[in-house]
Amino acid sequence: MELMQIPVTVVILAAGLGTRMKSRQAKVLHRAGGKSLVENVVDTALQLAPAERIFVVVGHQAEDVRKAVATPGIGFIEQKEQKGTGHAVAIGRPVLAGLDGYLLVLYGDSPLLRAETLRRLIHAEAAGDAACVLLTAIMEDPTGYGRVIHDASGAVAAVVEQKAGSPEQLAIREANMGIYCFRADLFWKHAGELTTNNPAGEYYLTDMAEILARAGHRVEAMRIDDAREALGINNRIELAYADRLLRQAKTRELMLAGVTIENPDTVTIDAGVRVGMDTVVAPFAQILGKTTIGENCRIGACSIVQDSQIGDQVEIGPFTVVSRSVVERGASVGPFARLRMENRVRQGAHVGNFVELKKTDLGAGAKASHLTYLGDSRIGAEANIGAGTITCNYDGFEKHPTTIGKGAFIGSNSTIVAPRKIGDGAYTAAGSVITEDVPPDALAVGRARQVVKEEWASKRRQRREPRT
Ligand code: UD1
Ligand code: MG
Repeated sequence: MELMQIPVTVVILAAGLGTRMKSRQAKVLHRAGGKSLVENVVDTALQLAPAERIFVVVGHQAEDVRKAVATPGIGFIEQKEQKGTGHAVAIGRPVLAGLDGYLLVLYGDSPLLRAETLRRLIHAEAAGDAACVLLTAIMEDPTGYGRVIHDASGAVAAVVEQKAGSPEQLAIREANMGIYCFRADLFWKHAGELTTNNPAGEYYLTDMAEILARAGHRVEAMRIDDAREALGINNRIELAYADRLLRQAKTRELMLAGVTIENPDTVTIDAGVRVGMDTVVAPFAQILGKTTIGENCRIGACSIVQDSQIGDQVEIGPFTVVSRSVVERGASVGPFARLRMENRVRQGAHVGNFVELKKTDLGAGAKASHLTYLGDSRIGAEANIGAGTITCNYDGFEKHPTTIGKGAFIGSNSTIVAPRKIGDGAYTAAGSVITEDVPPDALAVGRARQVVKEEWASKRRQRREPRT
């Protein structure tokens, strides 16, 4: 049966604080692979069911968790008091019980789950007659996980939590991964039988296994070979581990698609990033957020590119920071440059070392090669911005624009006091403070004339000869 024909409702539990994180922030908001834990799970769920069939149970920092789940159409269920994983699903009855088919329950703290595995779980449930199939793995050290108890027929008889288990039960190495596919009708028929009769005083979702088995239904375990995929993040060591695996998955995906990544373990690339063929990413580069990079680019060592669009054949030099900016085909930026926000560096333009651009449009083929600040500026094509040029765009109250025309030549160390317009083809003399507009093709000189006093230095030295 095709998956899309099997009606599945996905419930993602994300209401807990996660005390073991030792954090003021709810656990599911912590990030791995460039996304919050809960977003990772929601994005996986979206490969299995339409948004209208996905529900996130929120409690701690409910507003922030809702915001972290940006996809429209996803439903939220509020669990005001966290009385356990069973309670978290059961309180959804008013919205969930009317939905037919199957109920897939996931925990918001397991960001490594793959849609492929969940598809197999749903198929296992839909193909047989079990009331529930749950995902399990044989673990080297299952401490902290629920242990899976089988009956003589091989079916699951119960799941016993760490806190409730006898020594013999805790010796079992088959662990509950916390991922379940229930027949929805049977789940809702029996959900009312959950109790808080356990050492934690919580409604354990895991008790549904025993409840369904005792009611004469079959509960099955689907074992996966590698428990890492189902890792539930409970502390920051596991968080770092999940982050590393997600980063590795991303660099592998890009490398298989034709991107060269030097020393991939040092590189940080967010899930939403796209990179074109034959681009080379150097060690320690970070490519973040919704960034797209074209073909045949080089992203230099230790550079950071965030929420930006980079065209083909662009060179981003080492130690360069590019945020919320567009860099067009054939341009080069850096080393040691900063495109702070909302810049456009047009075709073939060059931004060199120790240059900062903010809300600036640098025309095609224009150059700002050294030690410059251009803020709120429009620079014409082929203009040359000399070393040390500064646009004084802020007067203490407001920001003002600077416009520099096509082919203009701004002498080194020019200080342009905005708002100011410099015409096409105009020159400013080196060291000028430009406080008036400059017409096209003119030269503006705004500095004191040089005076040379012959012999001045030697005379001074004579005056200061030490007495002997
Ligand atoms: C759970 C399972 C355990 C399994 C393990 C796998 C239970 C009782 N135990 O334990 O068998 O081996 O996961 O990782 O289910 N949550 C709520 N509301 C609540 C309580 C929890 O939304 O009232 C959410 C949490 O935010 C979290 C998820 O449910 O995202 C799991 O809770 P957690 O406390 O991490 O369960 P574990 O102790 O890991
Ligand atoms: Mg957990």
